[in-house]
Amino acid sequence: MEAALPYRIPGSDHRENHPQNQNSDPRQKLIVALDVSTAAAAQKIVAAVGDSAFTYKVGMQLYTAEGPQVVRDLVASGRRVFLDLKYHDIPHTVASAVHEAAQLGVSMLTVHAAGSGKMLRAAADSARAANPDLIVLGVTVLTSLDEHDLEKVGFRGTVRDEVLRLSALALASGCNGIVTSAREASVVRAELGHDFAIVTPGVRPAGSAHADQMRVVTPAGAIAAGASHIVVGRPITEADDPAAAARAFLDEINS
Ligand code: C5P
Repeated sequence: MEAALPYRIPGSDHRENHPQNQNSDPRQKLIVALDVSTAAAAQKIVAAVGDSAFTYKVGMQLYTAEGPQVVRDLVASGRRVFLDLKYHDIPHTVASAVHEAAQLGVSMLTVHAAGSGKMLRAAADSARAANPDLIVLGVTVLTSLDEHDLEKVGFRGTVRDEVLRLSALALASGCNGIVTSAREASVVRAELGHDFAIVTPGVRPAGSAHADQMRVVTPAGAIAAGASHIVVGRPITEADDPAAAARAFLDEINS
């Protein structure tokens, strides 16, 4: 049997995003993506951002280059780590990988929702057993995919349909939230509620040169659409002053 709603997010701040609670620290909602190839480059970004962010995303580039030590070092320095390796394999293998990620001390991690309810349940159970506060996120539809791409890989619905279906599956299988574009966040909130995390990438500052990219939104737009967390990479990591860039995002989140 799949778990019934409502879904709980142990240790998550997602409720602070609810309109009834507007006083939360916006830094709880900002995740800075460390899309670099060396631990030294990652540490340089973390030092430059300073107190403007709590959580850093380690994705497949940095993890493949530097391995788990980069995660251990971030955690040891008091940062929260979002391990974005998008696990997708047989349930046993994914559960084992989630267990290892939990041992590294990560706060959030991703699994592909398309990996099936069995795989998602195995991931969620493994996370819960190791650390009840670990947030397991189901990746729905990658922001790089459009309906033509979905059809080619065998999905028949619209992006919106697929996001909703995969979100419902992830949540019913024990995940604490989902990853999707802010474009779909509002319909997910409307259909599935507020008691789970929605992490949205593809966020750009208002008025930026990238604002016309496909499926890109502003921080305020993402939060208004229902995102509990936004993932920002290059606009912060490649800024002349990453701390100032991060503060600008925090101001926009607050707006
Ligand atoms: O584009 P940016 O540097 O802000 O990307 C940060 C992270 O968000 C990347 O690690 C990537 O995984 C994700 N991303 C995404 N879809 C986009 C843009 C970025 O999933 N359209």
